[in-house]
Amino acid sequence: MTRSVDGDAQRPVVTMAEWFGRLARDAIALLTGRPPEIRNRIKFFLLSPIYDGFYRVVPMDPHHEIERRLPPATRRVLDLCTGTALVPAVLSARSELFVVGLDLSPEMLAMGRAKLSRADRRNAALVRADAGRLPFGDGSFDAVTVSFGLHELPTAVRERAASEAARVLRPGGALVAADLDRAPRLGWLVDVYLRLGEPTHAREVMGDGLARLFSAAGFVVEREEPRGAVPMQILIARTPAR
Ligand SMILES: C[S@@+](CC[C@H](N)C(=O)[O-])C[C@H]1O[C@@H](n2cnc3c(N)ncnc32)[C@H](O)[C@@H]1O
Repeated sequence: MTRSVDGDAQRPVVTMAEWFGRLARDAIALLTGRPPEIRNRIKFFLLSPIYDGFYRVVPMDPHHEIERRLPPATRRVLDLCTGTALVPAVLSARSELFVVGLDLSPEMLAMGRAKLSRADRRNAALVRADAGRLPFGDGSFDAVTVSFGLHELPTAVRERAASEAARVLRPGGALVAADLDRAPRLGWLVDVYLRLGEPTHAREVMGDGLARLFSAAGFVVEREEPRGAVPMQILIARTPAR
């Protein structure tokens, strides 16, 4: 059984009636000018049923790449922008880890809960919250991970998320992030995708954008550039050991 702190029931599936109810609520919120996270809510409401299928056709596996880069002494992990819990699903296969996945979208989290519940992962919990305002105390985690989530965050939220990650990490803790970047081959395809499918702030993570962001938040950063045709960069950053 997975745990939830947002009061959402522990139901593994959402009925059609609930889906339409949520869609109606989102439409009303949009028309009445609720805050910008409503755009995220609608996007991932629509994508949640098909989201995991995307990784079956795209030749990259950020979730195992992140797992391979976690420092050996890691025990408590926070996965930001966890979506359907793809990172927690990989990490919680290791019984020595306890993983908290955090996301704004209840629909993505519902998919994630179903997945973790099917796999009977008791060492993973999902939380509905904003990556820019983490509901955890200082030094609560050994590692913070984030897979293809930072490009979704508006600039100010991304900056807050970077300093919140530094705050909730213990001294010497690690941040491991994977996100979009222009691959040496087929880089033009990423530009087309960004133009058609992502908000303009998504471009800010490209190149050394993320490395600059985390350096400014006090991390010491190493960046692995994309290789071949895979449009993914990986960042490994550490907070000072104190
Ligand atoms: C492209 S998905 C990434 C999902 C998953 N981590 C993966 O590896 O594919 C981006 C996720 O970021 C979440 N998100 C966007 N803004 C957020 C915020 N301010 N706080 C928390 N999650 C957010 C979205 O709801 C969505 O589930």
